[in-house]
Amino acid sequence: METIAKLIVDGKTYELPIEIGTEGERAIDISRLRKETGLITLDPGYANTGSCISSICYMDGEKGILRYRGIPIEELAEKSTFVETAYLLIQGELPSQPFLQSVSEMLNEHSMVHEDMLDFFRHYPPRSHPMGILSSMVNALQAFYPELRGADDNGEALQLTFTRLLSKLRTLAAMSYRITRGDKVVYPRWDLKYCANFLNMMFDSPVKPYEIDSDLVRALEVYWILHADHEQNCYTSAVRLVGSANVNLYAAVSAGISALWGPLHGGANQAVAEMLQKIYDSGGDVKPFIERAKDKNDPFRLYGFGHRVYKTYDPRASILEKMVEKVLAKLHRHDPLLDIARRLKDIAEKDPYFIDHQLYVNVDFYSGILLRALNIPLNMFPVMFAIGRLPGWIAQWKESHDDPQKKLSRPRQVYAGSQKRSYIPMTERS
Ligand code: CMC
Repeated sequence: METIAKLIVDGKTYELPIEIGTEGERAIDISRLRKETGLITLDPGYANTGSCISSICYMDGEKGILRYRGIPIEELAEKSTFVETAYLLIQGELPSQPFLQSVSEMLNEHSMVHEDMLDFFRHYPPRSHPMGILSSMVNALQAFYPELRGADDNGEALQLTFTRLLSKLRTLAAMSYRITRGDKVVYPRWDLKYCANFLNMMFDSPVKPYEIDSDLVRALEVYWILHADHEQNCYTSAVRLVGSANVNLYAAVSAGISALWGPLHGGANQAVAEMLQKIYDSGGDVKPFIERAKDKNDPFRLYGFGHRVYKTYDPRASILEKMVEKVLAKLHRHDPLLDIARRLKDIAEKDPYFIDHQLYVNVDFYSGILLRALNIPLNMFPVMFAIGRLPGWIAQWKESHDDPQKKLSRPRQVYAGSQKRSYIPMTERS
């Protein structure tokens, strides 16, 4: 296998090393390209650009493979917990029982947020989107916990920051939901584990105490495991890029939350549910929506279909599809949006447009239906995604922070504007 690529420019040949990953994928290392040739590469959307060498997450978009630190997502979804998976991603190895026990205690110990943060929450206008609230509150953590530092810390202090953030993000998310509804905040409970505690903070009420159902807790656990990392996508790249300026972890994660909000990305789970509802409200016929998605003159897209990396079925979607069926059966509930989703998938799977464009269902296709079954309101869907992704962001931020070859991220551009010209005084402008 070649380990050198040759580039011929203006008749001169340059040799560029090829980096080979542990799963055999190859990348031309162009880090010295500009120095040696004066050229840069142009790759809008970075679709062919590797921004780092990473050991955290492996994806094969052609075969539908996803692994965290080498372990297949299917195994983790079946056997692991969200907290265990979080520390697998952050530390690189499955944690020991004593370590997990100490993490569990730390998660409890640091689950409260400063009471003054509640005042912040209360002044957001009604109907503010919880994602906007969450990203600003995460950034504000630095002000409320100034002793928690960022990239210049190491060892125990940093570990504590990670655990605190994992714990507090969950509390902040539940608080943002309660406060935007005008409900009283429910504080975290010491006797509950991560996922059950979140559901309790969301739904407990003095009138009707929340009954913890282990199957629903497990469904949330699996949902968050599936969302825990996905290598260098838009919002993780945002975390790494912002982090490369040596900002604190909170600022970097806040940037990730903002990027995740977009409907082309993590916000797609909300967009899918809205789309399915729209189809349902219009009588349930999926065909006009499929036709619109295929029409080049119509900006409409089928949310929950397509992926930059997966050119086959997203493995997370297969797991979620089964989980949705299990949860609905457990609740003895029928969701008409699942029927619509299935019809949409069946037709799209046979349609030449979707086959030719390699558009298969992605993780967001079923996640909205699962979240509905858990009674999570629509505008909280991207928030749920963000809580799940936090371990990945921490792991990626840490990996880039520990990288001895770390550099400030600073892409270049090909300038296509006006060439040099003079300033025209106002009186002479037409
Ligand atoms: N419906 C209809 N056409 C589509 C869709 C879709 N959902 N997605 C892509 N296409 C078409 C697109 O019109 C284009 O067609 P053509 O080549 O004929 O002009 C072609 O497929 C390639 O599209 P692209 O936007 O250049 O591809 P991309 O790799 O940049 O897009 C994507 C990836 C996820 C942004 C896109 O598939 C999309 O918008 N999907 C809907 C939103 C969605 O479900 N997002 C969640 C992604 S999964 C969450 C995650 O892992 O982050």
